[in-house]
Amino acid sequence: MRKNFRYVDLFAGIGGFHLAMDDFSRGKAKCLMASEIDKDAARVYEDNFRLAPLGDIKSIGSLPKGTEVVLGGFPCQTFSKAGKREGLADARGTLFADIVRLVKNSRGGDLTQKPKLLLLENVGNLRSHDGGNTWGVIRRELRDAGYTLNDDPFLLSPLQFGIPQSRTRAYIPCVRKDIYEGPLDLRFPFKPRLEPVQGMMESDLEEPLLLTEAQEMILSIWDRFMDIVGRRSIGFPVWSDYFDGLAKEKDEFPGWKKEFVRKNIALYQSHEAELSDWLRNSGIRSFPPTWRKFEWQAGDSIGSVYEGIIQFRTSGIRVKKPDFFPALVAMVHLPYYGPLHRALTVRECARLQSFPDGYRFEESSQKAYRQLGNAVNVQVVRIVFESLLSFLQERGCFL
Ligand SMILES: C[S@@+](CC[C@H](N)C(=O)[O-])C[C@H]1O[C@@H](n2cnc3c(N)ncnc32)[C@H](O)[C@@H]1O
Repeated sequence: MRKNFRYVDLFAGIGGFHLAMDDFSRGKAKCLMASEIDKDAARVYEDNFRLAPLGDIKSIGSLPKGTEVVLGGFPCQTFSKAGKREGLADARGTLFADIVRLVKNSRGGDLTQKPKLLLLENVGNLRSHDGGNTWGVIRRELRDAGYTLNDDPFLLSPLQFGIPQSRTRAYIPCVRKDIYEGPLDLRFPFKPRLEPVQGMMESDLEEPLLLTEAQEMILSIWDRFMDIVGRRSIGFPVWSDYFDGLAKEKDEFPGWKKEFVRKNIALYQSHEAELSDWLRNSGIRSFPPTWRKFEWQAGDSIGSVYEGIIQFRTSGIRVKKPDFFPALVAMVHLPYYGPLHRALTVRECARLQSFPDGYRFEESSQKAYRQLGNAVNVQVVRIVFESLLSFLQERGCFL
């Protein structure tokens, strides 16, 4: 395909797909239209790309003339199960239906006038969402609209390409069926080795988001706990409230939860002398309930919480090995890098999403973190798109 192809960027967010197309085409590909309902994200997009996204996709009547490629990470919604095999009825009113509507409407329904390629992205569990119904409807609608796509989406994470963020997402490349029909056996250039996390970190920060005094205190308390029980995989979340009966198992707990409670009590009893002192003297009971829960996911690879990556989650404090970061999702789960005693900066999160260092973000870092948590990893998109084009080129498909 020519590098100066024309595309539209639906559910554009802050432009992960746009950056991937710029990177792939060295700036030659042209974005004809973007759509993004969130005004803050749209402002960031316009600031970086000099293109103001249109708002709600539902108010867009048709694709711009000459659209060759449609890109979009659409929000995952549950479809109706009532109208099986009734065409778009299953998906009516959903945002996915709007993608299909726009593609189907293009140029009076003549297949050869429709976009040549679609590249869609969604959550990693898309295949199993709603018992497989969601994916079933998506696949059927896209095929009915005239596109070749595989029976399953590709599940890919930046980790597979050396980027130290775990973020498995479903990628759905589609090719107009007059161009190619058959399985899309794409080959991806996987990399066995991760870029070191340290290489992503900024230095000389003016205002690092340091662990607070209270956070430092609770982490030291859990460090002492790990000294007592030994640094190893525990295999279940530690719920200190159950150790000595502050919280009690309830009849209505599901089986897995009852099992965890029993394991916690057994853990406590196997180190009772030291852990009862720890409960009494550490002051852990004065901290919020979510900080009284702990998950050690670092095995025996590190000797202290401060050597790991730390998250303050609603399910408890989680510490993992510092080899890669967990998926960026939202501010509440913002990862802290233990060795530096601070949270990741917006720029570091951007690097984990393969956004270039020149990219301009919101003044408000809270918003920027959230937008990055919603974004797609730029390099993964570029790789999928490039692999799709190589696959088609090798088969002599004319794009
Ligand atoms: C998963 S995010 C996609 C982010 C994007 N891929 C990026 O790299 O930043 C989905 C986006 O769809 C937007 N959205 C939701 N409903 C929409 C609608 N009706 N019209 C346009 N955009 C919408 C959300 O605001 C959100 O930014």
